[in-house]
Amino acid sequence: MNSLLSDIKIIKAQTSKINEVDFENITFGNTFTDHMLICDFRNGAWEQPVIKPYEPFMIDPSAKVFHYGQAIFEGMKAYKDANEDIWLFRPDQNHERFNKSAVRMAMPEVPEEVFIGGLKALLQLEKEWVKFGKGNALYIRPFMIAIGSGVIAQPSTQYRFMIILSPAKSYYSGEVKVVIAEHFSRAANGGIGAAKAAGNYSAQFYPTKLANDQGFQQIIWTDDATHTKLEEAGTMNVFFRIGDTLLTAPTSERILDGVTRKSVLDIAKRDGIATEVRPVLVEELVAAAKNGTLKEIFGAGTAAVINPIVGFSFRDEYFELPKLENSFALDIKEKLNNIQYKLAEDTFGWTVKV
Ligand SMILES: Cc1ncc(COP(=O)(O)O)c(C=O)c1O
Repeated sequence: MNSLLSDIKIIKAQTSKINEVDFENITFGNTFTDHMLICDFRNGAWEQPVIKPYEPFMIDPSAKVFHYGQAIFEGMKAYKDANEDIWLFRPDQNHERFNKSAVRMAMPEVPEEVFIGGLKALLQLEKEWVKFGKGNALYIRPFMIAIGSGVIAQPSTQYRFMIILSPAKSYYSGEVKVVIAEHFSRAANGGIGAAKAAGNYSAQFYPTKLANDQGFQQIIWTDDATHTKLEEAGTMNVFFRIGDTLLTAPTSERILDGVTRKSVLDIAKRDGIATEVRPVLVEELVAAAKNGTLKEIFGAGTAAVINPIVGFSFRDEYFELPKLENSFALDIKEKLNNIQYKLAEDTFGWTVKV
């Protein structure tokens, strides 16, 4: 059988929307490029991938994605360097995680030639949409949905894998204050927390809305069994700097294994910052905030890279974080960005040319 990729079919858009886009004032996740990739799985096999103009498509109202939520996704970025070359950051990690999510949701794994190869082919076509300059990036959203019809609670036999692309400026979410979860849970042992499954996100909308209503932007989730261990935020892993040590929770079946998280840990270790990957207790955080040793909390994820957190609330108390001169968050963000934009040598071998 020929490789799927050598078979890739490309239908080009007649015109481009690119001149209608105000790249300076773009809001995250609302603008899409001219083309998308589609690859369907039927009769136990992946079909020919097609790159075609970005447009809506029809699926049956009884498709399992609508009723049973068989849906997974990934989030990655493409960057342009000063030579106009386009780079991906650790795409193998996203591919691997996507397939782990697929297995957990009883969906078929997507072959590398479709996920990575198809992405590269799509990016070749959309090069102009990746703008040069720090902060500019093309956000990449690969996803898979169950398109098989029938309102019976069983895994689908038909799936659609797609990649869509959205130009993004540097993501600034304003001041982020967080609430530490005490009642609601994002994930449970044996559940789907480690999968990038759509349902993990919709399940957070209601508790997050309650937090928003109280003036907090995000929730830091805790373990479901005891609510004593700090886990992660809605779309970011979290780091705590107590004294000069950087702490973060170990990944588990409740926590998404973030690519940014592991890159932050590697950069911190390389640069001699003490790191501890271990359960971090809520009581430890509160004690450190009270005795002045808590210096920073920040989120780490593809969209924002690093998102400093200015304060947290636990029960009825609010703790404000100090404003620091030598922030680990900002230092590591700069170093990570420099690797992503090819402004610093990539000694880790993380960047992949398109
Ligand atoms: C729940 C959750 N945790 C953490 C992350 C950060 O992961 P990454 O650094 O791979 O983007 C994300 C975003 O992808 C996420 O959705």
